[in-house]
Amino acid sequence: MQFTIITIFPGIFDSYFSKAMVKRAQLKKIIDIKITDLRHFAGNKYKSVDDTPYGGGAGMVLKIEPIYKALKSIKRKKKSRVILFSARGKTLTQKDLRRLKKYDQLIMICGRYEGVDNRVAEKLADEEISIGNYVLTGGEIPAMVLVDGITRLLPGVLGNLESPKDESFSKENELEYPQYTKPEKFKGWKVPKILLSGNHGKIKDWREKNKRY
Ligand SMILES: C[S@@+](CC[C@H](N)C(=O)[O-])C[C@H]1O[C@@H](n2cnc3c(N)ncnc32)[C@H](O)[C@@H]1O
Repeated sequence: MQFTIITIFPGIFDSYFSKAMVKRAQLKKIIDIKITDLRHFAGNKYKSVDDTPYGGGAGMVLKIEPIYKALKSIKRKKKSRVILFSARGKTLTQKDLRRLKKYDQLIMICGRYEGVDNRVAEKLADEEISIGNYVLTGGEIPAMVLVDGITRLLPGVLGNLESPKDESFSKENELEYPQYTKPEKFKGWKVPKILLSGNHGKIKDWREKNKRY
């Protein structure tokens, strides 16, 4: 699976993508992450990729030309999809992650400022994704969310012990039961007795009862 991220802040990903699961998945060559600096496609000496909105209003809007050129520069794989991050998009769910993991390549466009010229959504992107009903400063955190959420579903990334099979949302709207670990008692706050009983049947029932929907 190849992730290509188009952004005006390429360095923003360094820390997250060089640690833990995402790092391991890259080392195992299960994923490949490429970052495309939108400013390389600015086409002017000031490297500006934004302009004022038609119709007036506050802030700046990312222009379509640099995004078009950036997309053209990316070698497309057979099963490739272009995603634009936008608060106006469809809200991301676990089901979307399972759907998107089937592509060979996801190309993600990170908006900034007041957003992106809407012709990018209309003509260049295959879908618009929001990661929730709130406004962030840019699409870079949504890109990290997508890379993380998809990578952990790819075969060979998580060990059996961390399997994503029984976790929250693996069945529609079912949230995992609560988990506890040592110590048994902390400041007088106790772990539910049943979990210490060794009775697997009862533990299973308790866990089933304590799931959320
Ligand atoms: C400050 S926001 C633009 C907000 C826009 N003016 C609005 O009111 O919807 C800049 C960029 O951040 C990204 N962004 C912000 N919130 C997001 C969300 N909830 N999901 C996905 N992307 C988001 C998008 O790429 C957006 O173009």
